[in-house]
Amino acid sequence: MRNKRNATIAAVISLVVMVVGFWLILRNIGDPEKPLNTLAPAGKQNWEIFGLVKPVFAIAGLVFLLVEVAIIWMVVRFRRNRHDVDGVEEPTQTHGNTPLEITWTVVPALLLAVLAVFNVQTLLNLEESKDPIEIRVIGQQWWWEYRYDIDRDGEVDIITATQIVVPVGRDVEVKIQSNDVIHSFWIPAINGKKDAVPGRTHTLIMTAEKPGIYQGQCTEYCGLSHGVMRMELKALPQAEYDEWVAAMTKAPEQPTDAKALAGQELFVAQCARCHQVNGLRPDSTAPYTYDDVPNPDYGASVDITVSSGNAPNLTHLMMRQTFAGSLLPLYQGKAAEAVTAVPDGIPDTSNLKDWLRDPEAIKPMNPDNGQGMPNLQLTEEQIDQLVAYLVTLK
Ligand code: CUA
Repeated sequence: MRNKRNATIAAVISLVVMVVGFWLILRNIGDPEKPLNTLAPAGKQNWEIFGLVKPVFAIAGLVFLLVEVAIIWMVVRFRRNRHDVDGVEEPTQTHGNTPLEITWTVVPALLLAVLAVFNVQTLLNLEESKDPIEIRVIGQQWWWEYRYDIDRDGEVDIITATQIVVPVGRDVEVKIQSNDVIHSFWIPAINGKKDAVPGRTHTLIMTAEKPGIYQGQCTEYCGLSHGVMRMELKALPQAEYDEWVAAMTKAPEQPTDAKALAGQELFVAQCARCHQVNGLRPDSTAPYTYDDVPNPDYGASVDITVSSGNAPNLTHLMMRQTFAGSLLPLYQGKAAEAVTAVPDGIPDTSNLKDWLRDPEAIKPMNPDNGQGMPNLQLTEEQIDQLVAYLVTLK
């Protein structure tokens, strides 16, 4: 009796697991509210991948169903009966069955061969691009840097971080590199993931189909803050993208407010040896000048004692909507998610203050080993001044 009950329980459990598993996958199809959902494409490349997922899931699902049904049928059909006597009612004991073995070798091989045709076709399609714009992406512990050469003269025109901004409908050729360890760049709504490997450049094509902010996550374990190494892709209509470029390629305005000026002074003394604001240098003295051209070698050109060799360029900090590896919003409320060229809203100064007060309380880092932001032991007054300055950087 017990054997029969066990067999039934096993069959029921496996059916439930099967149904719940399929439900968990299928319920996500087309749901853009889930930030890392690969099943809600918003980019040309992810539609290609989604198109491949469907036949693969269909074939794999059919195989899964056949195998499950066969297992359940065998469990029930050949279970031990309570009247069975050992050695008498046992099924015929066999070993090896050549036709069967050939069948279950050839059928999967054929299935894989068919799927390979779809796979190769998709891989080739993913590499296609027409008149792309190029953006360099650099993985850092633990944030992402983006470099734009807008006029294609070989000089970097924009260096930004965390939020990569692209024009809708335009092929973007992303050149992925790393400054330290292996990371992996992944904006699931737009395309698959690609590793950022030190000493190499990997190309990924991304074409956003509609305006929006699409979230991403580093997917290669890269140390303490890997789990919160996020990024965002902001896709803007061409005209607004042009507006963004114009705003990013001019120098920010010199602050006038006394508190912000004190903050600027402090920034030059404390922050500028790692963080670049175009034109400001750690050895410069007031009155300060801004420059509209970023220095791509900044991290290496100043005396680095505390950073990993590069810290985010903060020239247009308030042009992005999140900071600290996209962990915290820079604006209050909806302004943090608004799809506009120039963010318009009230800065979330409490997040900036928390960050400056104790960065390691926000995300795990190891500044003593050159990884991440050190705690500068700032006073509350200094924090106020610095934040007053930072929010002017637009
Ligand atoms: Cu960068 Cu994980």
